[in-house]
Amino acid sequence: MKVLVAGGAGYIGSHAVYELVRAGHDVVVLDNLSTGRRNAVHPAARFVEGDIRDKASVVAALATDAQSAPFDVAMHFAAKLIVPESVTEPLAYYENNVEGLRTMLTGMVECDVRNIVFSSTAAVYGEPSGAECHEDDHTVPINPYGETKLAAERMIKWVCAAHGMNYCILRYFNVAGADETLEIGLDKDQLTHLVPLIMQTALGLRDSLSIFGDDYDTPDGTCIRDYVHVTDLAKAHVLGALYLVNNNASLLANLGSGKGFSVKEVVDAALGICRFDYEYAPRREGDPAKLIANIDRARALLGWEPTRELSTILASDYAYRKKINQA
Ligand SMILES: NC(=O)c1ccc[n+]([C@@H]2O[C@H](COP(=O)([O-])OP(=O)(O)OC[C@H]3O[C@@H](n4cnc5c(N)ncnc54)[C@H](O)[C@@H]3O)[C@@H](O)[C@H]2O)c1
Repeated sequence: MKVLVAGGAGYIGSHAVYELVRAGHDVVVLDNLSTGRRNAVHPAARFVEGDIRDKASVVAALATDAQSAPFDVAMHFAAKLIVPESVTEPLAYYENNVEGLRTMLTGMVECDVRNIVFSSTAAVYGEPSGAECHEDDHTVPINPYGETKLAAERMIKWVCAAHGMNYCILRYFNVAGADETLEIGLDKDQLTHLVPLIMQTALGLRDSLSIFGDDYDTPDGTCIRDYVHVTDLAKAHVLGALYLVNNNASLLANLGSGKGFSVKEVVDAALGICRFDYEYAPRREGDPAKLIANIDRARALLGWEPTRELSTILASDYAYRKKINQA
């Protein structure tokens, strides 16, 4: 396949590019490097520095000469994703995540690219009604980030219906870990996510880790979440793109591990790998007790199975952060 990866210099996008290249596909990355890094782009991929809010950049990245094949699929990772920032700067989130997608889709229609794989998030569910999230559950986001992702999902559905295109919308749960080569990984500070917070504390960049709430209705009183390794997640994008190309049909699916681990269980597992202090703090507003993905649909339609355990997620994340911290 020939694939455009918008946001391919970022954390998840760079892992998707690695998996696409490993599977023998032809990749072009379009990224404005606002949070991504040029050297995270696999050397076998062509890099175009540009912004998805600029249609000329999108069309230039999608340009092919008469001899070469057109693009089969475009993948969209190019979003802003810090929840607290989205609350204080909602317009920047609508501009990048909604207007940016609109411009990218316009370029895709113009260049006759018929398939899109889109990074969505469990944040579209808002406060889940049950312990397991199913794709058909109500979507009631509780912050501007989740709202922009839901608006993006809806735009994609309407545009695909109008222009005879197909979509693969993937709703991620907690993503962590690093590629096994340790060439790429997460090197920025998403301070609302547990795994990066643990690793920062272990590397001495923070004094102590706070566990928010020990009185939830869970076996050890701490919140339960679903953690998926970034390489497993990246592989699902390759399968999603192949699904679109081979079936001429659309899908929307959750991507997680389908398993829940409490914050305390994650902390205990991490303490087997690295050293850090932690303390209990009051509950944070808006944190549901349990958030676990039902991944039956991704299994059934994509033939996808996450294979990397929590221990691998934590060990690879720590090894990558240690490596870049020492560099
Ligand atoms: N990281 C997570 O835990 C998580 C969870 C759920 C969903 N997601 C979604 O996954 C996607 C990727 O997230 P990530 O963690 O890799 O983030 P990231 O910030 O590492 O990657 C985003 C990439 O897109 C680029 N970008 C942003 N705006 C752009 C624009 N207007 N034009 C061109 N490039 C632009 C950035 O430079 C960066 O390389 C996002 O859409 C996010 O909403 C992430």
